[in-house]
Amino acid sequence: MKLTLNVWRQKDAKSEGKFVTYDAPNISPDMSFLEMLDIVNESLILKGENPIAFDHDCREGICGMCGVVVNGEAHGPRKATTSCQLHMRSFRDGDTITLEPWRLTAFPVLKDLIVDRSAFDRIIAAGGFVSVATGSAPDGNALLVPKTDAELSMDAAACIGCGACAAACPNGSAMLFVAAKASHLGLLPQGQPERYDRVLKMVATMDAEGFGTCTNHGECSRACPKEIRQEFIARLNRDFLRACLTVRPKMAGSGGAG
Ligand code: SF4
Ligand code: FES
Repeated sequence: MKLTLNVWRQKDAKSEGKFVTYDAPNISPDMSFLEMLDIVNESLILKGENPIAFDHDCREGICGMCGVVVNGEAHGPRKATTSCQLHMRSFRDGDTITLEPWRLTAFPVLKDLIVDRSAFDRIIAAGGFVSVATGSAPDGNALLVPKTDAELSMDAAACIGCGACAAACPNGSAMLFVAAKASHLGLLPQGQPERYDRVLKMVATMDAEGFGTCTNHGECSRACPKEIRQEFIARLNRDFLRACLTVRPKMAGSGGAG
């Protein structure tokens, strides 16, 4: 395949960025999208130019590090697929492909296609955990969990924290991410003691980090490579409302959950 790439190049967080056009010849349809970028980068390095900076780690759709806007779509054209698992056979020979970083205030661009997603880390640090005594693994039969709750919790736990939901949302909202993280704990017995406190703290931090509010566009779920459903946002809203009415009223005015 012979492709043309329009790539967002930005030296650092303070510099202005611009699109730069590159030829990408000799691309195999069996390459992953990131392997294609590796090939382009090798040719740039051979020419003495700066390679295109992009985030990646596992390249298996697990870690959530990768994330590129491909032709206007977070993670590209294939549903339920991370950028690292996107293959070049999803494109046609001769295509022009535009590559941009996630675009939202809460994820400032650090360089080229890399953004600072530490706002998500701060949301998790605010409440995305359970406080339990560590030790040897408890007997699996000691804490019974209804099967439907276990399955729902596992669905929510599939979130890899990539940020595509916030990048795809017209409001730059992180509600799907927060809903997934709050739900996977809030559905299990171990997550109950901190359930409502957790929701208040995570939502307050989400607001403070500059993410927008949810107005039910649904772009988050459509862009999500792990197919996290919007019903988790409804669940978060219910928990948030209950928390505002019943838990620590001094925190209730700190922000709205959409
Ligand atoms: S909800 Fe989906 S799109 Fe959002 S961070 Fe989690 S895996 Fe990524
Ligand atoms: S590099 Fe880990 S999910 Fe893509």
